[in-house]
Amino acid sequence: MKDTIPWQYNEFTQVGKDYSKPEEVEDFEARHSDFRDLEGDSNAVLDLLGVSENDILIDFGSGTGVFARQAAQRCRQVHAVDVSQAMLDYARNVAIRAGVTNIEYHHGGFLTFEYDGPPVDYITTTLAFHHLPDFWKGIALKRMYTMLKPKGKLFIHDGVIEVDGAIDNITALIDRLGEAGGEEMREDAEEHFRKEFSTYDWIIDGLLTRAGFEIESREIVDGVMASYYCLRPE
Ligand SMILES: C[S@@+](CC[C@H](N)C(=O)[O-])C[C@H]1O[C@@H](n2cnc3c(N)ncnc32)[C@H](O)[C@@H]1O
Repeated sequence: MKDTIPWQYNEFTQVGKDYSKPEEVEDFEARHSDFRDLEGDSNAVLDLLGVSENDILIDFGSGTGVFARQAAQRCRQVHAVDVSQAMLDYARNVAIRAGVTNIEYHHGGFLTFEYDGPPVDYITTTLAFHHLPDFWKGIALKRMYTMLKPKGKLFIHDGVIEVDGAIDNITALIDRLGEAGGEEMREDAEEHFRKEFSTYDWIIDGLLTRAGFEIESREIVDGVMASYYCLRPE
């Protein structure tokens, strides 16, 4: 934010997993490949969103940049935004080696990225929104709303918890991640729920609609992992 309020949440302070460390960044894709298809999942989302050649897209919490690079192959301009300079450096280097030239990298976050370009067609964020406490998620969604064109779309994929069976579903997720990725992945998952801010579906639903979005579709797999496709109405 330009005029940061004195009690502004400091989104640059790493909470839980520390993505400012180069060693965490180097290992990130290998660890996540144990339980995700990084490129395949990105392309499935881009297909569903219908991203095309004249579009502009902002990806918040862009990490190592897999989604941004897949998006860049389909659209005019991608803005990759992350609070971790180490993530941005890694992503930029991979893109340079791959000859991708239509991604701009921004050191900032949901609360601090100042976008001064034309309103965008899409905003996406994958496994990053849980880094903000709920009050600040609300502020972030209102900021995203202002960056989007009327009829622009917002996609959020993240840990979001259904009330019924919450504890059992989280425990089962941690077990599955431990089986897929080993002890370190299990510890990461436990750390996530201990310290980071994954929240209830009814809270995310309320935050989205109160920020002005229409939820076009939402799916919560195994009661814990959500995909929201949302529209900024005219
Ligand atoms: C689990 S990684 C996900 C990276 C990537 N989106 C993916 O799906 O592979 C979370 C990312 O969010 C970033 N992050 C954390 N807090 C953030 C914030 N407030 N604004 C933007 N990015 C943030 C971290 O630095 C990290 O790169």
